[in-house]
Amino acid sequence: MANIQFEGVGRVFHQGGKQFVALEDIALEVADREFVAIVGPSGCGKTTCMRMAAGLEHPTTGTVKVGGTLVTRPGPDRAVVFQQFALFPWKTVWDNIEFGLISLGVDAAERQRRIEHHIELMGLGGYEQAYPHQLSGGMQQRVAIARAYVLDPKVLLMDEPFGALDAQTRVVMQEELVRLARRHPRTVLFITHAVEEAVYLADRIAVMSRRPGRIREVIDVKTVREAEQWDRVARIEDVMDQPSFVHLRTHVWKLLRDQQGDGPH
Ligand SMILES: Nc1ncnc2c1ncn2[C@@H]1O[C@H](COP(=O)(O)OP(=O)(O)O)[C@@H](O)[C@H]1O
Ligand SMILES: [Mg+2]
Repeated sequence: MANIQFEGVGRVFHQGGKQFVALEDIALEVADREFVAIVGPSGCGKTTCMRMAAGLEHPTTGTVKVGGTLVTRPGPDRAVVFQQFALFPWKTVWDNIEFGLISLGVDAAERQRRIEHHIELMGLGGYEQAYPHQLSGGMQQRVAIARAYVLDPKVLLMDEPFGALDAQTRVVMQEELVRLARRHPRTVLFITHAVEEAVYLADRIAVMSRRPGRIREVIDVKTVREAEQWDRVARIEDVMDQPSFVHLRTHVWKLLRDQQGDGPH
């Protein structure tokens, strides 16, 4: 069953008195509990796609549906994780995670149960009363992910969530997200410009081109991952060494590289 559906989606923006086509004819479906990554060069319209699924932005043409319903505004069926953590700086870790649950009207006992579970899940034990500025970038992003997962949304929308992290923290977070996705499968639309991250995390990868932003190719990773049993390989660097991984990575790289002709962004 399709959970996120982009159909014939286009977006025109106005810049400096001119119109330009940011996105053209985007068609993409994310199935229930599927993890789809969108990769593409800077400025190809990845964030715009995600904002449309979130209901923060609207297509000029076409439709975006979540769970069969036309997206017109943000809603509790969709949780968003941004690159810049976007935590409330004046709230503790606990209160940041609790905020959305209060908005949803979840009662106090259930809130406590769910928050404790997600604090444990994301390795945030002992930091409940800390404020965001007291935490590293990696820890802040754990809070942002816990805050999204705790709402138990149908759909998770993540826009380069690890983009602001250093390389080591990023790898740890990628491994954590894979673990989380196995324990609690969700429908995820994950945006990144990091090719390895997409191959490591996603079931399918939609590769975009720019000017105007289009989907160039959708690549099936899940079939390869299952055939190669990457799940049994504990460490990300060991997965990345496998010939099948290298093959997929190179394929995505080439698709991106082919677009270099239209100049730097
Ligand atoms: N609100 C806006 N008004 C005008 N132009 C925009 C707006 N949002 C995005 N753009 C432009 O649309 C293009 C795609 O942007 P974006 O979706 O942020 O790309 P990406 O996330 O892939 O880097 C860029 O050229 C950007 O400058
Ligand atoms: Mg972006």
